[in-house]
Amino acid sequence: MRVTIFGATGLLGKALVREWKQDEVIGLGSRDADIRDPQQTSAAVARTRPEWIVLAAAYTNVDGCERNRELAFAVNCAGAANVARAAKTHNARLLFLSTDYVFDGRSKTPYETDHPRAPRSVYGQSKAEAEIQISQILPACCIVRTAWLFGTGGKCFPDTILELAASRAEIEVVDDQRGSPTHAPDLARAIIQLCHRNASGIAHATNRGECTWFEFAQAIVSRAGLGTKVKPTTSEKSVRPAERPKYSVLSPRSLEKYGIAMPAWQDALQNYLDERRSEPTAQKNTLIASS
Ligand SMILES: NC(=O)c1ccc[n+]([C@@H]2O[C@H](COP(=O)([O-])OP(=O)(O)OC[C@H]3O[C@@H](n4cnc5c(N)ncnc54)[C@H](OP(=O)(O)O)[C@@H]3O)[C@@H](O)[C@H]2O)c1
Repeated sequence: MRVTIFGATGLLGKALVREWKQDEVIGLGSRDADIRDPQQTSAAVARTRPEWIVLAAAYTNVDGCERNRELAFAVNCAGAANVARAAKTHNARLLFLSTDYVFDGRSKTPYETDHPRAPRSVYGQSKAEAEIQISQILPACCIVRTAWLFGTGGKCFPDTILELAASRAEIEVVDDQRGSPTHAPDLARAIIQLCHRNASGIAHATNRGECTWFEFAQAIVSRAGLGTKVKPTTSEKSVRPAERPKYSVLSPRSLEKYGIAMPAWQDALQNYLDERRSEPTAQKNTLIASS
């Protein structure tokens, strides 16, 4: 099978390229094709002739999207629609990465795939609108919503916490937003299986279990063997430009239908820390205490 990945230079894209060994995979970054440009996008698909396209390219800075709505919609919505049109023209299947932020966070139980979209941020709105437009262009597309992505391929929450913990005796983290951390390699493996199983429709894919950002930070600091005190705070005290859902746990039921189960987030975190520790980078310093 031939696969083209848009967003291959990003956190998930790098994991996809690393994990996807059994097929012929071509990874593209924004320098190879800017998805805002329909001609560039179509030419990239024509050149790589994929059976599957994985669209992991996006403007993912949630607060940046709030400040620059035009760019958010140009990349996340119009850009995604350009990829869907190119997929249709060149007869390729499409798997589009979306987000838990398409929900408003008022639920008290895990979100199923048919729960109504009600995004509270520009980022969430741009992805929700993309889901709708892509499904109109390519009704058989596969939309994979994920959440709280982390991995060694880029900036992420555990990385930030470890950096802060290395230089501070105390850090404050919000304890009123609940979700499911997701390790990029685990998500990459689920995506590969979904393509092999010819998936269509919406699927929710996160690591198993849930926590607040505070609980996640506590686990990161303690498993890294650091002595930093992690204190809970609230979203009201730690105001950000974009509103985040208070609860965005995604139900694994849609993934289970394909016989796919993702590991618990605690195991995924341990794998991330082990991977980080074995990487020959400057980041290693922050983990010395655990070795
Ligand atoms: N990160 C999360 O916590 C999270 C949570 C839920 C869902 N998601 C979704 O998961 C997917 C992957 O996220 P990620 O964290 O891996 O993203 P990321 O690390 O921010 O990487 C973004 C990727 O998109 C590419 N890109 C940006 N603008 C582009 C453009 N105009 N044309 C072509 N490519 C462009 C970037 O290419 P260059 O680097 O070459 O510019 C990069 O490869 C996204 O769809 C995101 O919405 C992420």
